[in-house]
Amino acid sequence: MAGLTDEIEPLKQAALAELKTAPDLAALEQTKGAWLGPHGKFTVLMKQLGTLPKEEKPAAGRLINAAKVELETALAERRSELELAAALPKEPTDFTLPGRRRPLGRLHPLTQVTEDIVRSFRKIGFAVADGPEAEDEYHCFDALNTPADHPARDTQDTFYLASHALNAPPSPRGEGRGDGERKPLLLRTHTSSVQIRVMKSQPPPVRIIVPGRVYRRDNADATHNPTFQQIEGLYVDKGVTVGDLKGTVEFVFKELMGSDVKIRFRPHYFSYTEPSYEIDFTNALVKKMGKDWLEIAGCGMVHPQVFENVGYDPEAWTGWAFGFGIERIAMLRHGINDIRLFYENDVRFLRQC
Ligand code: DAH
Repeated sequence: MAGLTDEIEPLKQAALAELKTAPDLAALEQTKGAWLGPHGKFTVLMKQLGTLPKEEKPAAGRLINAAKVELETALAERRSELELAAALPKEPTDFTLPGRRRPLGRLHPLTQVTEDIVRSFRKIGFAVADGPEAEDEYHCFDALNTPADHPARDTQDTFYLASHALNAPPSPRGEGRGDGERKPLLLRTHTSSVQIRVMKSQPPPVRIIVPGRVYRRDNADATHNPTFQQIEGLYVDKGVTVGDLKGTVEFVFKELMGSDVKIRFRPHYFSYTEPSYEIDFTNALVKKMGKDWLEIAGCGMVHPQVFENVGYDPEAWTGWAFGFGIERIAMLRHGINDIRLFYENDVRFLRQC
């Protein structure tokens, strides 16, 4: 049966031609099935091997096996060609295009100013302290000697929260009524509440600053926003004077706004300091705005009643405290005329700072 052996070569050539020109992977799989699958033409040929006379079988078998190896090699080659083609981009690639850059963000102007202020205070030994924004009346008002009928405690001025905190059991320092009563929570109106928290948690001396967000029920306009940022300072030690306070404020503002800065203290009233002052400041920028002085902070010597409230001996310890707004400083620094810009998250604004 020379017929069968003669069929091998033309069949192989036809199969090779089809495998090598399969246009895609799906077509290739189909071609493979048509030739090498269970009912493929080559498989059928192999099955016919059994019908050959015994002496012809080995030679025909070798031929068929060699042809099969050739087909399988061609199949594998074409498969990797087509796989590579499928993985390449569909569109032509322009290798001269510039690389893709990840857009870099930047620090918010209020964060920049806060970091600058913190850096200056760190140089003279102050540590950063922190406290909750959802505060209770005790830390925000009572312990700061603020009377029950003070307008700041009015719902007109302060955001009270619907949730309450449970009164803590009586502490050795006398905080809380200890009656398990629910006490109202509010959004802190100033960072001064953290003075109380820090002094209650550690013995004197104290040297801290507290940057943080505060809330007041103000309608937003060019100079007011219901949320804004403050920095509180507190220094408690023996023999602390107003001179220390003024020198410290002057040092920090000169670092922050330039060596031409001048500071002025004006008498004022705060329930947690005695005496109390407002701090005015001026430099070339303030003059450029057509003003002589700009009110920038409140401060004073810690009131003896506040020391009593936190369990410090007012006869032994003295201290000063201050609080100022961050926005006003950032506005001055960058010539910004509307506080609301800080809170709109318009990247065209933020990119300029
Ligand atoms: N808490 C005051 C405010 O929000 C600022 C202030 C004044 C803070 C006097 C103080 C201080 O620590 O001693 O307007």
